[in-house]
Amino acid sequence: MAEDTELLLQCLLIMKIAISGKGGVGKTTLSALLAKEAAAQGRRVLAVDADPNPTLATTLGFSEEIQPIVELEELIEGRVGSGFLKLNPKVDDIPEEFAAEKDGIRLIVMGPIRRGGGGCACPQNTFLKSLIQHLVLERNELVLLDFEAGLEPLGRATAQGVDALLIVVEPDGVSLLTARRIYKLAREIGIEKILAVANKIREPTETDVIQEHLKFSLIGAIPYSESLRRCGPLNLSDPLIEQEIKTILERSETLSLEGRGQPKAG
Ligand SMILES: Nc1ncnc2c1ncn2[C@@H]1O[C@H](COP(=O)(O)OP(=O)(O)OP(=O)(O)O)[C@@H](O)[C@H]1O
Ligand SMILES: [Mg+2]
Repeated sequence: MAEDTELLLQCLLIMKIAISGKGGVGKTTLSALLAKEAAAQGRRVLAVDADPNPTLATTLGFSEEIQPIVELEELIEGRVGSGFLKLNPKVDDIPEEFAAEKDGIRLIVMGPIRRGGGGCACPQNTFLKSLIQHLVLERNELVLLDFEAGLEPLGRATAQGVDALLIVVEPDGVSLLTARRIYKLAREIGIEKILAVANKIREPTETDVIQEHLKFSLIGAIPYSESLRRCGPLNLSDPLIEQEIKTILERSETLSLEGRGQPKAG
């Protein structure tokens, strides 16, 4: 295989894709569909539920209780400390130790950070941020991060390692407004490749309206599907949606490689 092609393949296999959007828009559904597709392609995939209200495990059909990372209080305190905080705690063993696995998909649940009685949840915060940084910058596998709209745990250094941010948009004004806000925030923290995915589309004109209102590219449109809503992504067997998911995965990967190695625009 030519060296360039091999390098390209390597890059594709270890892509880091973050998913965001307004509440209820379909972030977790998209994350699950992408994870399922990547696993079906025989790729190593690590799904990360970084939403404080985690639902990805259920959506992916994990039956066991998965302990959220923030609940590993003793471990976190041991690594970060409680008074003088260690800002770069050891985290590289966490995926191997704490990811659950099912049907070729490994899953980590971050969990909500609770602030008790005006106190600071700094050790958990520090640990989570370090872990997300590790997942984005150092893992040799496809990492899919299901985020809330705020992109809270993504600091600048980590954000720059995100290969593609997919903002999920529904055909309604509030979701579009949120998408534009997330876009702005993502640009500010240094994410370069920001792409939109339309979801719950009932007519093709809705996709056109979404694209008209966004200044970044729309790479796919998932139709509204009653069986997706009722049965979830896991048991879905809809060739149209499956094809769209393949396209979204492929486009987010090829587009995120565009312009690599070029000097960054000021
Ligand atoms: N294409 C679709 N067609 C029909 N229903 C859908 C579609 N995509 C998602 N849904 C449904 O919309 C609801 C919200 O989806 P999901 O949980 O994926 O959104 P979310 O953005 O992750 O929400 P949250 O902000 O609460 O995390 C679910 O009931 C899901 O089944
Ligand atoms: Mg969700």
